[in-house]
Amino acid sequence: MSEPFFNPDKSYEENWAKGPFGPFADGEVFVGACGLECNIFGKKLNSPIGIPAGPLLNGKFIKAALDKGFDVPMQKTLRTRVKKSHPWPNVLAVRIDGELTLEKAQERLIADKDYREPLSITNSFGNPSYSPDFWQTDLKDAVSYAKPGQMVTASWEGTDWDNAGEKALIEDWKLGARLLRETGVEMMEMNFSCPNKGTTNLLCHDLEMSRKIAEAVKPETEGIPLAVKMSYMSENYLQQFVKELSGTVDAFSAINTIAAEVVDENGNQALPGPSRLRSGVCGSAIKWAGLDMARRLKSLRDELDAKYVIIGVGGVMTPKDYKEYRDAGADIIMSATGAMWNPLLAIDIKNNPLP
Ligand SMILES: Cc1cc2nc3c(=O)[nH]c(=O)nc-3n(C[C@H](O)[C@H](O)[C@H](O)COP(=O)(O)O)c2cc1C
Repeated sequence: MSEPFFNPDKSYEENWAKGPFGPFADGEVFVGACGLECNIFGKKLNSPIGIPAGPLLNGKFIKAALDKGFDVPMQKTLRTRVKKSHPWPNVLAVRIDGELTLEKAQERLIADKDYREPLSITNSFGNPSYSPDFWQTDLKDAVSYAKPGQMVTASWEGTDWDNAGEKALIEDWKLGARLLRETGVEMMEMNFSCPNKGTTNLLCHDLEMSRKIAEAVKPETEGIPLAVKMSYMSENYLQQFVKELSGTVDAFSAINTIAAEVVDENGNQALPGPSRLRSGVCGSAIKWAGLDMARRLKSLRDELDAKYVIIGVGGVMTPKDYKEYRDAGADIIMSATGAMWNPLLAIDIKNNPLP
C-alpha cells in the first residue's frame, strides 16, 4: 500500500489546505491509450474509471486524480453555504473478518490506525463545505484542466439551513444545482446517501421525498446528466426506487457506505462527538454489496427497458475488482478507499486489462 493521498492523521482542514499527499501528488501525468475507451452520456471517455464523491476535497485533488488516469473524478459533496467538518479523526481502519454482511453490521466493529490489507475503513465528515464563492471558481478551474476523454463531475446536497421545512429544503437543492451547473461539470450527483437530515436519516430511504427533490432539481440541470447516490437497498425497495426515479435521473450510483457502530479496542466510541457511534464503513468488506446493487440495477434496466447509466462503487481495490463490476453491468466504476491507498489504481487497471 502506498502513502494515502488523504492523510487520516491530519484533520479535514489540513488535508484540504495541504493535500493531496504522496505519489498521487507528484505531478507526473499518465498518458496513453488503454483499450478501455467508452461512451457515456454521448461523450467519449478514455476509460470509465473514477473516484467517487469523498476523497477529492477540492480542485487540487481533482487535478491530481486526472493526472493519474482517473477519467471520471467526482468532487466531494458540496453545499450552498459553509459547514464545518466533524472533528478529527475522520478516517480509521476497521477490523472485519471477511465481508461486512448486514448481520455483521449489527455488531460493534473495532477501529484502529492499522491500515493494512484487506483494507476497510470508516469515514465520518458530516459533509462539510466551503463557501460557493470558493468552490465555484475552484471547480471551474478543475473542469478546464481535464484532458480530452476525461469528465469532471461533482456531488452536492441540499440543506434546510433554518429549519424552515420541506419547501426551503427543496429550494436549497435547486440552488445547489444551479451553482454547480455554472461550474461546467459534466455530471451532477445528488447525495441521497449520507445522513441528510439530522444525523441518521438517509434521504434515499424516503421514496416520496427522493422523487420530489429529483423532479424539482431536474429542470435546473439544463441537460447536464443527473445522478443519484444511494445506499444498499433490499430487492423490493430498489425496484420501487428505480421505478420512481428512472424517468427523471440519468444515472444511479451505488453504494455509499454500510453503517455500523464503531468502537476502539477498549469498547469506547472511536469517533468523538455526538451521534458518531454509528458511522459508514467502506473499502474491501463492502464490495459484495456494491456488486449486488450493480447486478440488480442492470437487470432492472433490462426489465424496464430504461436507459440509465450504472455507477458501481464499493470495495474496488484491484484490477480484478474493477473487472467484476464491469461484468456485473456497471458502466462507470469508482474507487474511494482503494484509490486513496493506491494512487496508481487507474493506471494498474489500464495496464492489466483482464479478459
Ligand atoms: C474519505 C471519504 C469521504 C467520503 N465522502 C463522501 C461524500 O462526501 N459524499 C458521498 O456521497 N460519499 C462519500 N464517501 C463514500 C464514497 O463515495 C463511496 O461511496 C464509499 O467510500 C464506498 O466506496 P469505496 O469502498 O471505494 O471506499 C466518502 C468516502 C471516503 C473514503
